[in-house]
Amino acid sequence: MTLKQRRDEEAALRRQAAACSLCSSLAESRIQVVFGGGEIDADVMFVGEAPGATEDRDGVPFAGASGRLLNELLSEIGLSRETVYIANVLKCRPPDNRDPRREEVANCAHFLERQVELVEPIVLVTLGNYATKALRGEDGGITAIHGKPEQRRVGARSLWLLPVFHPAAALYRRSNLELLKSDFAEIPRLVAEGTPEQPRSPESAVIEKPPVVQSEPSDEPPQLDLF
Ligand code: URA
Repeated sequence: MTLKQRRDEEAALRRQAAACSLCSSLAESRIQVVFGGGEIDADVMFVGEAPGATEDRDGVPFAGASGRLLNELLSEIGLSRETVYIANVLKCRPPDNRDPRREEVANCAHFLERQVELVEPIVLVTLGNYATKALRGEDGGITAIHGKPEQRRVGARSLWLLPVFHPAAALYRRSNLELLKSDFAEIPRLVAEGTPEQPRSPESAVIEKPPVVQSEPSDEPPQLDLF
């Protein structure tokens, strides 16, 4: 796909999301859909959980205190919001900042999957437990797996998935900030490494739910899955 085709399709997807009412209660309570955005040709894409009150008001992800910290972390590794792409698992604000529901994530998953395919990032950084769990399709516990890049696929894309703490967790606890900074330092290294090896067979590029228990060891990277 050309850059223009990717931009045009992202704009069409954004319009589709703006009119989405699959989750009727979220569609009623939201001020607006927070689709996300940034550089369509970014090497690095970030995924958070869901918009909060500030994002719902402003229409952009990470517009509040977590976003200010994210901006600082980006600038420390020579990036900015203009050079990366930022989205959330859920595009609508859950009322009272409750956790997203499973069916809401399922309804919204195709938007994020397509965003990843259109951006074609080398590194996909999941911010916090929620996004990490949604994109890995399995429970890991951010404390155990943060800062450890994994080779994963989404659609036909192969990429590095890097789970890190959510910026809000770093605002809440200082020790998390140090961990977050050192995990962010991994990002330029992974970008320099480049896109990990492409999937070997066309079948392996199909988005599907990974098995809960893998019966045989495989040297293929696990498939990305949004529940
Ligand atoms: N937290 C998130 O996970 N996403 C946002 O957009 C803002 C705060």
